[in-house]
Amino acid sequence: MCGIIGYIGEEDAVPIIIEGLKKLEYRGYDSAGIAVYTENGFDVLKQKGRLSGLEEKLSGGFPQSHQGIGHTRWATHGEPSDINSHPHLGTDSKIAIVHNGIIENYKQLKEYLESKGVVFASQTDSEVIAQLAEYYYEGDIMDTVCKVSSRLEGSYALGIMCSDDPNTLIAVKKDNPLIIGISEHGNLIASDVPALLKHTNKVYYLDDNEIAVLKSDSINFFDFDMDEVDKTLETITWSMDSAEKGGYPHFMLKEIMEQPKVLRDTINSMMTDTENNRILEEIDIRKFDKIIITACGSAYNAGVVSKYVFEELCRFPLIEVELASEFRYKNSVINDKTLVILVSQSGETADTIAAMREAKSKGAVTLSIVNVIGSTIAKESDYTIFTAAGPEIAVATTKAFSAQLVLLYFLAVRFSKKLGRLDEALYEKLEQEIVSLPDKATEVLEHIDFIQKYASNSVAYKSVFFIGRNIDYAIALEGSLKLKEISYIHSEAYAGGELKHGTIALIDGENTLVVGIACCKRLFPKTLSNIEQVLSRGANVLFVSNIEQVTTDEKTSKITIPDIYDLFSPSLSVIALQLFSYYVAANRGCDIDKPRNLAKSVTVE
Ligand code: AGP
Ligand code: GLU
Repeated sequence: MCGIIGYIGEEDAVPIIIEGLKKLEYRGYDSAGIAVYTENGFDVLKQKGRLSGLEEKLSGGFPQSHQGIGHTRWATHGEPSDINSHPHLGTDSKIAIVHNGIIENYKQLKEYLESKGVVFASQTDSEVIAQLAEYYYEGDIMDTVCKVSSRLEGSYALGIMCSDDPNTLIAVKKDNPLIIGISEHGNLIASDVPALLKHTNKVYYLDDNEIAVLKSDSINFFDFDMDEVDKTLETITWSMDSAEKGGYPHFMLKEIMEQPKVLRDTINSMMTDTENNRILEEIDIRKFDKIIITACGSAYNAGVVSKYVFEELCRFPLIEVELASEFRYKNSVINDKTLVILVSQSGETADTIAAMREAKSKGAVTLSIVNVIGSTIAKESDYTIFTAAGPEIAVATTKAFSAQLVLLYFLAVRFSKKLGRLDEALYEKLEQEIVSLPDKATEVLEHIDFIQKYASNSVAYKSVFFIGRNIDYAIALEGSLKLKEISYIHSEAYAGGELKHGTIALIDGENTLVVGIACCKRLFPKTLSNIEQVLSRGANVLFVSNIEQVTTDEKTSKITIPDIYDLFSPSLSVIALQLFSYYVAANRGCDIDKPRNLAKSVTVE
């Protein structure tokens, strides 16, 4: 996904746009660009590479303006290059646009326009929007925007300026997020809240197929039929500094360290009279005969953990965990007796949005667990409960993941009670186990020095395997993903009992590290024998465990985590795994908050 921002108002747009793009770089950083309106038309500066490069170029002199748009790109069509950077202008430089999304029919539109003599400059899908707009433009920019929107297929959040229509900034939304901010000195559009917070906490969330027309002192909303739309002005409750590093070297480390607080806030959202609690009370699990949990990436891994918890506590016969990118095309057997649980930090992941719409189209009831208020999944699900993680800036999720786990535990405990599977005493005990997590998470964080030291000796491994059984296997998936996505070391998560069926051939003596997660007490002897199998083949081993029998020696180390009800142990083991991956990546000099090829929320297929 990309980050887009626009400004129109009394102040110079350039610094506002650049500062806003800094807050959006986590959404993509292949290239950056800006276009501002001046009496001579548009001045545009755009180039491949990080925003800092653009900022350096701007310092060489760029016109002031009260109106502009900016973009930080995660390329989907056309390699990262200067010419493929946004903003894109039509051939006559009459219309300038920035785009987040994918235009799925761009090839047909491009061929059509080329047949009309239009010459394209870039290889992107986005340029089609600017060229089509100029092709339709006959003096009325709103009429043009409606005609263009009717021809586009795919997903788009757009910022649009027309050189004939100064003091007008247009925003269009379909499938990708777009927020409108109203401030004392002007109005803004942005892909996400952190880009606006310095100027306002008063925002409108555009809905799909809506257009916002911003002047420096007014904002009007329309649908694609050009009918006026009333929107509710909302207030952002979290502060600017929560979107800052707060003295940490990386957002990821700050967000790892915030987890005890996030766990506490999320638990409180389920232990007091809140909307989350009221929603959980409203869902009668007895009406359903199937639960499907669907998500992507780490959110999917949280779903895998929760399947063990649901099965054990609810004794529910039909519980499936599906990758959203598979579920959306699988034609699953679902109906109005199916509860589909969608998990998403951003609430904007394209595959998870599509999975939600697929589930709803077949009559399923959808319950989503989301971190970003106002996001598409949050608005379109039948029910939504929110993680209290605050803004998560690092691309690799940590605190939001932990908050997802806690809400999933509560779902399982509450459903189990409603199904009559839990007596009051066990119900109370389980809830108290969850309540104990924040303090126990703090205890895990106290091992930070040991983990940092161990990680500094782990930077040269060719492969790292994360193994465990039952709930430990589930969290091994997340441990492996964390290491891969920020340190670029190859890694796999394996069920401990499965390793010997082939993959153990990859254990290459000292070149291999095996991280053994052992918190499932019932299966510890089995996990131990799997670890013995890799030790006998020369691998080094790092245990993450709360089992005292785990011993260490020159080949085997251990991160001890506090005792906890087995099924909730992923909330503690994952913190050790996060810190391990963080420090391996830090020692490898990786760009931890913005890993290569990644983006914080994948709002494209
Ligand atoms: C996790 O560290 C990754 N950033 C990625 O796998 C992420 O979890 C996935 O893209 C899902 O994102 P979402 O939770 O915003 O839907
Ligand atoms: N498809 C556009 C491009 O490749 C935007 C990409 C995105 O939103 O990530 O430039």
